[in-house]
Amino acid sequence: MNFHTRKWVKPEDLNPNGTLFGGSLLRWIDEEAAIYAIVQLGNQRVVTKYISEINFVSASRQGDIIELGITATEFGRTSISLTCEVRNKITRKSILTVEKMVFVNLGEDGLPAPHGRTEIKYVKDQFKDDGLPE
Ligand SMILES: CC(C)(COP(=O)(O)OP(=O)(O)OC[C@H]1O[C@@H](n2cnc3c(N)ncnc32)[C@H](O)[C@@H]1OP(=O)(O)O)[C@@H](O)C(=O)NCCC(=O)NCCS
Repeated sequence: MNFHTRKWVKPEDLNPNGTLFGGSLLRWIDEEAAIYAIVQLGNQRVVTKYISEINFVSASRQGDIIELGITATEFGRTSISLTCEVRNKITRKSILTVEKMVFVNLGEDGLPAPHGRTEIKYVKDQFKDDGLPE
């Protein structure tokens, strides 16, 4: 799993308990997963279809640096399934897990469209023919 994005937990991200607000975390993870799906499917027209059970494993506090990890688990005909984890960047303690998120690839008509992808594409492979050293 690649942990691309880091976030710094700030006062505006907290709940009345003084810990990271679940809604902030879900917004971040949905955005991170959508970007992942867009990059993997090569299409900006991608929407969240399904989010499975979300487990808020442990709390995060103001000042913590956290990181968001996503990986693809399945490529369907028009969909892509992902699994997600958020953890503390320093201690590696798990903060949130989402077993499954499904994004659907849409055509210009807004309807599900086949994406033709079958496996994870890595950045180094996507730009293999650009003449730059790997
Ligand atoms: C996304 C949307 C166009 C799909 O429409 P739909 O009628 O369900 O489409 P389909 O039945 O053809 O399913 C499309 C894909 O989603 C999958 N899917 C549908 N319902 C699902 C569910 N409950 N759980 C997991 N996958 C599901 C299907 O298996 C299919 O994948 P596949 O082609 O890889 O096999 C429609 O549901 C929609 O517009 N939803 C709102 C999306 C949205 O606004 N999201 C929040 C903001 S981004």
